[in-house]
Amino acid sequence: MKLLAHILCLCLALALSWADHNGHGDGDGHGHGHDHGHDHGHDHGHAAALPDRCKGIEMDGAVVTEEGVPYFFKGDHLFKGFHGQAELSNASFAELDDHHHLGHVDAAFRMHFEDSPNEHDRIFFFLDNKVFSFYKHKLEEGYPKDISQAFPGIPDHLDAAVECPKPECDEDSVIFFKGNEIFHFNVRTKAVYENEFKSMPNCTSALRFMEHYYCFHGHMFSKFDPKTGEVHGKYPKEARDYFMRCSKFSDDSDHVERERCSRVHLDAITSDDAGNIYAFRGHHFLRKDEGNDTLKADTIEQDFKELHSEVDAVFSYEGHLHMIKDNQVFVYKTGEPHTHLEGYPKSVKEELGIDGPIDAAFVCQDHHIAHIIKGQDIYDVELKTTPRAATNKRPIALFKKIDAAMCGPGGVKVFVGNHFYHFESTMIFVAGRALPEQHKISLELFGCDH
Ligand SMILES: *[C@@H]1O[C@H](CO)[C@@H](O)[C@H](O)[C@H]1NC(C)=O
Ligand SMILES: *[C@@H]1O[C@H](CO)[C@@H](O)[C@H](O)[C@H]1NC(C)=O
Ligand SMILES: *[C@@H]1O[C@H](CO)[C@@H](O)[C@H](O)[C@H]1NC(C)=O
Repeated sequence: MKLLAHILCLCLALALSWADHNGHGDGDGHGHGHDHGHDHGHDHGHAAALPDRCKGIEMDGAVVTEEGVPYFFKGDHLFKGFHGQAELSNASFAELDDHHHLGHVDAAFRMHFEDSPNEHDRIFFFLDNKVFSFYKHKLEEGYPKDISQAFPGIPDHLDAAVECPKPECDEDSVIFFKGNEIFHFNVRTKAVYENEFKSMPNCTSALRFMEHYYCFHGHMFSKFDPKTGEVHGKYPKEARDYFMRCSKFSDDSDHVERERCSRVHLDAITSDDAGNIYAFRGHHFLRKDEGNDTLKADTIEQDFKELHSEVDAVFSYEGHLHMIKDNQVFVYKTGEPHTHLEGYPKSVKEELGIDGPIDAAFVCQDHHIAHIIKGQDIYDVELKTTPRAATNKRPIALFKKIDAAMCGPGGVKVFVGNHFYHFESTMIFVAGRALPEQHKISLELFGCDH
């Protein structure tokens, strides 16, 4: 029965992934979802063994790497970022297998204490009674060690661990979880104190992400206060809604709440002439109305049928949304319903004079230039001339990879991961050498309160 269910699920998963064209992407959690280079149908035997995070699995461990990418561990596999297929953990952390076959990890955390240069940015893994310390994906000398030796007072067979630097905890600490027991380990004095987080379920993995603390239990998670263990607000929530990019969510998932608070990067964003903002992510888009700040979320399929999902870039120009996906440009009227213009889609090359795919695009008010970001370069496309050509190629010094960008009366906003940056003009953005203040997308743009 179990096998049958498994086979059934696999067929469903494959059917969905083809039908949905849904990203088993580049795996770094930061790219575009539609990586045509992957043929995920070709090896059924292999695919059957891969855990699928969109099915609602319980993770064994979670850690954010020094590059800021969350890794989620399940059995001998790991998931990088917010979407993409599972990979074997030993492909990224080879030495875990040399000493001990890596069937699973119990817990992981990243030492993130700038005052301790010898330990800063190490990723620690806990397996049974052993601890492994990795620095830049290499096992450090002297490891693995017994947990009792490296972290005296901390038990073996842990469930979860998370770093907690000052002032988020009173001292630079690591919080360990086993069953309903919680241990605060002081990194400097090695003192351990035990307390109980009464309002929280037993965690199977824990994560510090953007200065917030999350306990995962089953496929749900709760945000907690690391000092008191208190959970404030409406938790638990579904992990797939916030920490994974799945095409299907739980039935009671609130689209507005999820899209407003999601930690997954945006694919594209623009504001129309009236100042309404459209933000696109995976299969959904959020619309924020100018003036009353009302948020509406819907599937892209619903409003932009021809486009379906996973856009690369969107810009607004003269009452139309120009939406770019792979090598095609789709053009919709701004007003409701969003009617698709006749004659589209056209190729990006034909429409904008540059080969797709591109990463981001924006037009500033009262200008007739589409600024096209492709990799680390930006180009100008004069929209009033035909045929159009991408000219004035300039390197962007400040960012390696840009998810989305938009321009409004106040200047240019550039979106990278969970953050956006504001520049007074395109010129200042391109010529800039120092990163301006970082703003949180969920909090500052969409008003997510947690
Ligand atoms: C990695 O793990 C897989 C399965 O757990 C195993 O078959 C493979 O030999 C391991 N590779 C290395 C390099 O240890
Ligand atoms: C939590 O862990 C304790 C052991 O520490 C166990 O007795 C209890 O059943 C666990 N609770 C759940 C809901 O699994
Ligand atoms: C917000 O403004 C938009 C357009 O200005 C309007 O269509 C919408 O009905 C308004 N929503 C509310 C709740 O007032």
